[in-house]
Amino acid sequence: KRPAGAPDRELAQPVKKVGVIGAGLMASQFALLFARKLRVPVLITDLDQSRVDKGLAYIHGEIEKMYEKGRLSHDDANQIKALVSGTTDKKLYADCDWVIEAVFEELGVKQQVFAEIEPIISETAVLATNTSSLSVEEIGANLKNPERLVGFHFFNPVAVMPLIEVVKVDTTSDETLATAMTVAKKLGKSAVITADRPGFVVNRLLAKVMGEAARALDEGTSMPVVERALAPIGLPMGPFELIDLVGWKVAAHVQDTMVAAFPERFYASPNLHALADVSEPLVKSKLGKVEDLSK
Ligand code: CAA
Repeated sequence: KRPAGAPDRELAQPVKKVGVIGAGLMASQFALLFARKLRVPVLITDLDQSRVDKGLAYIHGEIEKMYEKGRLSHDDANQIKALVSGTTDKKLYADCDWVIEAVFEELGVKQQVFAEIEPIISETAVLATNTSSLSVEEIGANLKNPERLVGFHFFNPVAVMPLIEVVKVDTTSDETLATAMTVAKKLGKSAVITADRPGFVVNRLLAKVMGEAARALDEGTSMPVVERALAPIGLPMGPFELIDLVGWKVAAHVQDTMVAAFPERFYASPNLHALADVSEPLVKSKLGKVEDLSK
């Protein structure tokens, strides 16, 4: 018997071609996962060809690493590489039956992308969003077929994090939900169905940890001290290393969304924003430099 709330998997629609909107790091990571696990063509797009090429280069590099580690045979590596293509022409999404966006984390941008894509794709294609904390319902507010809408939230690094938050909104059809759960399973992830609330489940908790770490920084505790203090309590990485992993801009956006939704419960750190505005990438090895900037 199915657990309460679980969709009837019989309703799942086949996914024979995947479209990924955006070729940034998150999008590239899951484009690769779709190709590797579903073994179907995956099309990525972005605003300009240089971004697309950067995404493809990342994907090819990761395939190469997996081959070198002996995780993929030569044939598999070549097959997966051939399955992923990139373009700036969104019309090529026409025969995709699953399209997922991972563009800039701003409501208007995501709505605009969906408005552009929906007329191109078939009536039955699923439209998924990888938003980390925005309202899925609002992202799809202008869709003509809102039953195709679902949140499908990956975690960084996609290859190793075992969870996907599947976000159901009132309009999400049983078919769409069943397809999402089946796709998650085929990707080798465990999926939870969450309500469409700011931060869903995981980011609501992570935003607390990141926010309080940023508050400690604002109050004069240095980053290395915060990292060192938290290391022995069993977190896989310190809060600033985690922010570095997900990206400072993404972390600041998640924080903003949570503060806007629950002003009395979340903390808006000026430091988090100041650091997110630093233009050069803040890689782990530069955490010392980050500390200097924040003094
Ligand atoms: N891409 C691919 N594989 C990666 C990777 C990456 N970016 N980073 C690590 N890995 C792989 C490594 O190759 C390694 O695989 P093998 O053992 O098979 O070789 C494995 O992961 C473990 O890596 P390491 O031994 O280098 O390091 P570790 O044991 O310290 O684990 C970690 C690294 C898995 C990232 C771990 O530190 C961790 O779980 N950190 C917390 C990550 C987390 O909380 N993510 C959620 C962020 S929130 C988010 O993403 C949502 C959002 O909306 C903002």
